[in-house]
Amino acid sequence: MLRLLLEKQVEVKAIYLIWGLRRTTTGGNKYRRQRHSVPIEEPVLYIHMTSSMRQEKQKNPFFKQHSPLPLETIQRLSKHANMKLAVLGASGRTGQYLVTQALQQGHEVTALVRNVGKIPLKHENLKVVEANIFSADSLSEHFQGQDVIVSCLGFSPKLFSSISGYTDSMSAIVKAMREAKVDRIIVITSWYTEPNSRQNSPIILRVFLLPVYRTVLNNIYEMENFLEKECSDLNWTAVRPPDLQSMPATDKEFLTHEGYFVPGDSGPPARNIVSRGDLARFMLLQLESNEWTRKAVSICTK
Ligand SMILES: NC(=O)c1ccc[n+]([C@@H]2O[C@H](COP(=O)([O-])OP(=O)(O)OC[C@H]3O[C@@H](n4cnc5c(N)ncnc54)[C@H](OP(=O)(O)O)[C@@H]3O)[C@@H](O)[C@H]2O)c1
Repeated sequence: MLRLLLEKQVEVKAIYLIWGLRRTTTGGNKYRRQRHSVPIEEPVLYIHMTSSMRQEKQKNPFFKQHSPLPLETIQRLSKHANMKLAVLGASGRTGQYLVTQALQQGHEVTALVRNVGKIPLKHENLKVVEANIFSADSLSEHFQGQDVIVSCLGFSPKLFSSISGYTDSMSAIVKAMREAKVDRIIVITSWYTEPNSRQNSPIILRVFLLPVYRTVLNNIYEMENFLEKECSDLNWTAVRPPDLQSMPATDKEFLTHEGYFVPGDSGPPARNIVSRGDLARFMLLQLESNEWTRKAVSICTK
């Protein structure tokens, strides 16, 4: 695509964004957007079509599938092309995919970690800072001027006592967001956070895995309830994935469901695994969408 643009002497000064609109099998008439970006030079979104390209559009199959972007879309994209993200849990397995993808997409990332040595990545748009995720005072100074807070935090389960890392950190995060006047947060939660929903899980998961992760799921459920009941002033999105696998993003379609899991064709879901790269991809897609604000959405890939 880039070669075609250059051949046609199209000026691409910074980031060329190609958007495909795809119909998904769930979600009725909803369309899911996928974005691919190619960083080139300066931070300016610039797309110009020559008349020869317009002719090309008639015969080139790419343009038959992806028509040129209307001006208002380009303006909207340019607004989203360079956002400021504060990422919590940036050193984690999903966090690392998310930071890398966010930088590839041209965003400015502040990674808030407890140990800066855990992020060896160097990039001109990446700032790594040490912060205490349980202290609003510690977080708020780093939240100033951010467009979005992204949380990839995760806490280990305990077998014989409850855990509170999710709710404790979220209450500090929310307080810091209000102080810093940032109102958008995207946070990872999980399938099966609501206890009764676990009865729908496949038997292997229900018998062997969920009991181990019960304390994690319970505390995530409390965090989701906190967001739902006490954070109506914020644009929050809780992204609920199934099992995670440390694999890069794919171009698979997402299936989404506003519930505690994504049902299968015949009711209860099959055991489902999503790559951490795809989870990060879905979270970053939410930067451009209000579809799931003030909602928790279960996801999986097709
Ligand atoms: N594993 C699964 O199959 C699965 C399924 C569904 C949902 N999820 C959820 O997905 C989320 C991400 O999972 P993941 O496996 O990518 O996470 P992960 O690799 O375990 O990373 C967890 C992150 O949280 C940070 N963290 C934990 N305690 C902290 C503390 N006290 N202070 C500062 N940072 C702290 C870690 O920092 P350090 O690097 O410093 O430790 C790390 O960056 C989790 O919320 C998990 O519950 C997981």
